[in-house]
Amino acid sequence: MSFTVAIDGPAASGKGTISRAVAAHFGFAHLDTGLLYRAVGGRMLDGLDPVEAAERLDPADLERGDLRRPEVAQAASRVAAIPEVRAALVDFQRAFAARAGGAVLDGRDIGTVICPEAPAKLFVTASDTIRAERRYRELAAKGVETTFDAVLAEMRERDARDSDRAAAPLKPAEDAVILDTSQMSIDEAVAEAVAAIEARRS
Ligand code: C5P
Repeated sequence: MSFTVAIDGPAASGKGTISRAVAAHFGFAHLDTGLLYRAVGGRMLDGLDPVEAAERLDPADLERGDLRRPEVAQAASRVAAIPEVRAALVDFQRAFAARAGGAVLDGRDIGTVICPEAPAKLFVTASDTIRAERRYRELAAKGVETTFDAVLAEMRERDARDSDRAAAPLKPAEDAVILDTSQMSIDEAVAEAVAAIEARRS
């Protein structure tokens, strides 16, 4: 039986960590849909046309080592505003969502556009300074040279582009449970997410 969990939210809200943890908890498969847009953004930085890159996306493209870099994140958010790029990625995401055994997809438009019928939807958020602090620590731990101010500015620019675009803008689905993780530990946020999903399973 398929059961889809849609988890959306802005950058560094904690949705990736929460998605992985709830997928492990319920034994569901997990797809980080941001990686699809990052892979297309990476191909655009290589000089390819983004629509063509999206249409020809290969699973191996998701393994590129540089997909977490800030310039790839910016490129991802630019290609993500192109309706033809989004359209080329829909079938793959919906097929993943429908797989037997359950699936968790995290992104920006999973509950609103990709899986509007998903029985469980979460919108994970946190203040932008807290998200920038988390992302800054993550990047610093990986040895990426940056500053908190640069990360905050990059994040605000990306949030604005993702929220203001015409095609599938970042916003909570009407029936999404909002999880503000600003003041929560990871364990608390995961426990709340699991409880919200359990409530939609029965
Ligand atoms: O989640 P992540 O930060 O990896 O996403 C990178 C970019 O991909 C986002 O800023 C957003 O523009 C785009 N994206 C999207 N729809 C999704 C997932 C990601 O537009 N479902």
